Amino acid sequence: MGVLIAPSMLSADFGKLDEQVDLINKSDADLFHLDIMDGLFVPNISYGFPLVKAIAKNAKKPLDAHLMIVDPDRYLEEFAKTGVEYLSVHWEACNHLHRSLQKIRSLGMKAGVALNPHTPVHMLYEILSETDFVLIMSVNPGFGGQKFIENSLLKIKKLKEMIIKISPSCLIEVDGGVTLENAPLLVKAGADILVAGNSVFGAPGPAEAIRNLKQI
Ligand code: DX5
Ligand code: ZN
Repeated sequence: MGVLIAPSMLSADFGKLDEQVDLINKSDADLFHLDIMDGLFVPNISYGFPLVKAIAKNAKKPLDAHLMIVDPDRYLEEFAKTGVEYLSVHWEACNHLHRSLQKIRSLGMKAGVALNPHTPVHMLYEILSETDFVLIMSVNPGFGGQKFIENSLLKIKKLKEMIIKISPSCLIEVDGGVTLENAPLLVKAGADILVAGNSVFGAPGPAEAIRNLKQI
């Protein structure tokens, strides 16, 4: 399987949402990455269900929702009802992560755990077999267009070693500051899914930017 590309809709122009969704539908992208922020877990508020539903209505590719919210258990069912297929919750936001992941799977979605830059990958050791994908934050969550944190490469390599030993089908998603320059290194380190916001929607030709990332 080649690398999967997940454009982050946070960087899209919401004033012409249908057009932007159509652009992703027609591109080489694999997933729609949806960043949900509550202004508490992260210092920013993004968007909620009305916009997720507006995207879901026209999306022809799976939705990958990244919950940067406290106590995400409150909304798991509603994301499933909205048609989300990949759902990640933050390790730092869950007191009972095992229960949250089981709930996500029981609702028919792929269960992901997102890790902030300061959280070591070994914190996942006991939970990896319950996890369909790990989202490595390669910037501090909250905003698009930030600079990639170099230490993330080492985290991806360490996580890949753990995954090979414990749960080989678990995927690694990398989110934050992904560019055409660092993408080959990320894939080499073990990344399976690359999220790209600014490097797609900030490019002169987003479809071409997606194609270039897909071809690395
Ligand atoms: C940041 C979000 C990212 C963000 C990525 O908190 O989780 O998904 O949209 O945007 P770029 O690719 O511009 O760093
Ligand atoms: Zn994200």
